[in-house]
Amino acid sequence: MATSQPTTHAAKGEPILKLRGVSKQFGAVSALTDIDLDINAGEVVALVGDNGAGKSTLVKVLAGVHQPTAGSIEFMGQPVTLDSPGKALEMGIATVFQDLALCENLDVVANLFLGHELKPWALDEVQMEVRAWTLLRELAARIPSVREPIASLSGGQRQTVAIARSLLLDPKIIMLDEPTAALGVAQTAEVLNLIERVRDRGHGVVLISHNMEDVRAVADRIVVLRLGRNNGIFTAETSNSELVAAITGATENAVSRRRARKEELEQPA
Ligand SMILES: Nc1ncnc2c1ncn2[C@@H]1O[C@H](COP(=O)(O)OP(=O)(O)O)[C@@H](O)[C@H]1O
Ligand SMILES: [Mg+2]
Repeated sequence: MATSQPTTHAAKGEPILKLRGVSKQFGAVSALTDIDLDINAGEVVALVGDNGAGKSTLVKVLAGVHQPTAGSIEFMGQPVTLDSPGKALEMGIATVFQDLALCENLDVVANLFLGHELKPWALDEVQMEVRAWTLLRELAARIPSVREPIASLSGGQRQTVAIARSLLLDPKIIMLDEPTAALGVAQTAEVLNLIERVRDRGHGVVLISHNMEDVRAVADRIVVLRLGRNNGIFTAETSNSELVAAITGATENAVSRRRARKEELEQPA
């Protein structure tokens, strides 16, 4: 009997992904410089920063879309090369991109299994429906019927379906790009609850968000990027003004100050 129970998750707090000194150049543009990032099992890491800070580039590096130009990535203790989206997914790094990529005219079950047709358990309609229900119930998702077409669902419900779809592959890490950006208050709360349930199943969650209230509500750690560099790691207890200062550059951490100073000295006169 197929179930949606996770089988291979790391224990809570166990390191899943370790980035060290990761950089990404696009020609002359340094989108990421010397990024360190740890993602552990059963934790929500929020990735915040102003437009152009490098959040999407970092997610694309982890999703196997972009190759870093320097640095190392360790997954479950092993050095890895994420050289294609398929490889990242297979390894257990799932991404819910902002556009969700759901099919409006298909129902919830069909959308959940879209692209997973090659899995043996995805061939049987009854099994797929049972599996869909089991997973959605476990996530306490408020979806009236799994035979409902996506077109008739709310924004929060669509986000839920997109997140549930990536959980079917039982990833170690799930990255969510602005999952609440288009949602009202009640639907945002629904998605934040869902994120907590996903974390409690033992997945490592990377949450990109512009909304500091959302971030503070669910994040175990808040990682600030500024101009492609690490600019501090904070907790949910950090004040809004402190976070905003790190995001806008009113405060820069000692490392980036030293680096900026060094670069200044190295500038040809
Ligand atoms: N494919 C690309 N080619 C050239 N420059 C890029 C590309 N993708 C991102 N950049 C640049 O990298 C920097 C970081 O962008 P991005 O990762 O999209 O930031 P964020 O998601 O935090 O807004 C920006 O200066 C952006 O213009
Ligand atoms: Mg972006």
